[in-house]
Amino acid sequence: MAFKPRIVFSLWLLLMCVLSCAGQEPVDLSAFQPQSALTDMEFVSVSAYRGPGNTDTRSNKELPILLWWSANLFPHFPGDTERVDCAHSSCLVTQNRKVQLQRRTASIIFYGTDFRAYEAPLPRLPHQTWALFHEESPMNNYLLSHGSGIRLFNYTATFRRESDYPLTLQWLPSLDYLLQSPSVSLEEKNRWRTAGLAPVLYMQSHCDVPSDRDRYVQELMKYLQVDSYGKCLNNKPLPEYLEDTSTATGEDRRFMSFVARYKFHLALENGLCPDYMTEKLWRPIHQGCVPIYRGSSSVADWLPNDHSAILIDDFASPQELAKLIMDLDKDDSKYLHYLEYKSPDKITNLRLLEGLQNREWGINDMSKPNYLNGFECFVCDRENERLAAAKKHRREPEKYPAPLPKMANNTHMGCPLPSPGYGAVEEIDLNDGWLQMWPQDYWQSLDQAEGLVSLIHHNESDPGLLWQHIPRMAVSRNGQ
Ligand SMILES: *[C@@H]1O[C@H](CO)[C@@H](O)[C@H](O)[C@H]1NC(C)=O
Ligand SMILES: *[C@@H]1O[C@H](CO)[C@@H](O)[C@H](O)[C@H]1NC(C)=O
Ligand SMILES: *[C@@H]1O[C@H](CO)[C@@H](O)[C@H](O)[C@H]1NC(C)=O
Repeated sequence: MAFKPRIVFSLWLLLMCVLSCAGQEPVDLSAFQPQSALTDMEFVSVSAYRGPGNTDTRSNKELPILLWWSANLFPHFPGDTERVDCAHSSCLVTQNRKVQLQRRTASIIFYGTDFRAYEAPLPRLPHQTWALFHEESPMNNYLLSHGSGIRLFNYTATFRRESDYPLTLQWLPSLDYLLQSPSVSLEEKNRWRTAGLAPVLYMQSHCDVPSDRDRYVQELMKYLQVDSYGKCLNNKPLPEYLEDTSTATGEDRRFMSFVARYKFHLALENGLCPDYMTEKLWRPIHQGCVPIYRGSSSVADWLPNDHSAILIDDFASPQELAKLIMDLDKDDSKYLHYLEYKSPDKITNLRLLEGLQNREWGINDMSKPNYLNGFECFVCDRENERLAAAKKHRREPEKYPAPLPKMANNTHMGCPLPSPGYGAVEEIDLNDGWLQMWPQDYWQSLDQAEGLVSLIHHNESDPGLLWQHIPRMAVSRNGQ
């Protein structure tokens, strides 16, 4: 997939950082750059931390092994094997695939974006659990959005709150990030309006995504002035000093102040899924611009209060949405109502406050583990619990019941079939790029999930046999 280079690049950054980041200055939050699980800063904080509840005295040879299956994700450096001392217990973690079939290997950890049915570790051994780390967009792997795909995993860390180790607020570094006063005052924004800027900014260079956002924005543009600087629906050139696309998509300071002059930002995620929220939502809120949002259907559950964003799905049509925006554009006090959350007492959403308070991982916070190491320890502690319970059960089956199996289900991911950003699917031209790509990708992913289930069911050792199992399954499905 097209996403691999990013991981490789991030790792390269990590490498550079390990070599040169010692003594780095504290991170400036206004230049916060969330990327993926692999930002260089997060790795620097990796250290063996023994929680107060960890009384594990076993030697390395006695510890259960966790195997990181996805190449390039192993959150330790250097070497390929490490002991981790977690809050309650210890494990040996490795990226050496030679341990795949060992008795001691208790769990295999996967990165969702890289998970491929035709590369899965087979045969699947009954004593081994599978753990899924997937913080990225649903579009990166629709296999995980099907029940048959997600149920292969026993533990998950995804953006959904129902996940075992939720990463829901991963793109929101802190409460202060929300509270920062608007970068550009309303008076100044109004002056820019008079000087010819549109009320609304659109800035996307990743077109043809599952959420089909451009189709919606294109319709909206019929009723409302939108300045679009990215490659998608472009109608305005970037000023020369920002033309360099690397700054246009990054968080360059000049770029940030350029976009902050707009009253509203179109903020449409590339894939739709409950609880999938990214910097597209939090960045305008940070800057004091009002997001016009579509992405997570349950986004209202996480917003600072009930008037801090405009939700596209609340409007019957782009035309009605345009009416509200034009109305707010003319009425300063109504507009400022949407920025009330900038004073702390107006952040009334307890779920948001508690979510930020209670998460054990940090973003650019050296005092907390990053979520990759956090999840690794979560799996380690769960596996040690399970092994201890199984041992007790073997010794005294009457007294101790066998531990119950545990697996993920559709509430851990379950992103819907991609649908058109505007209008009905029947109205779309058969040659349309979106139509040819995303619904197909979604259903082919189901084939792959079911094919893998079949491989496991038949105790196959060669995942390459997937391509034989898929047609066989299709035949039996149609014969039903
Ligand atoms: C892990 O998940 C698999 C597949 O869903 C399931 O068969 C197995 O019982 C689970 N293992 C444990 C230890 O819960
Ligand atoms: C799905 O998983 C969640 C959380 O792990 C659990 O609470 C829920 O009961 C499960 N739902 C079903 C239908 O099994
Ligand atoms: C599955 O295959 C493995 C290795 O190919 C073998 O050791 C194991 O006994 C098989 N399990 C079953 C239930 O047939």
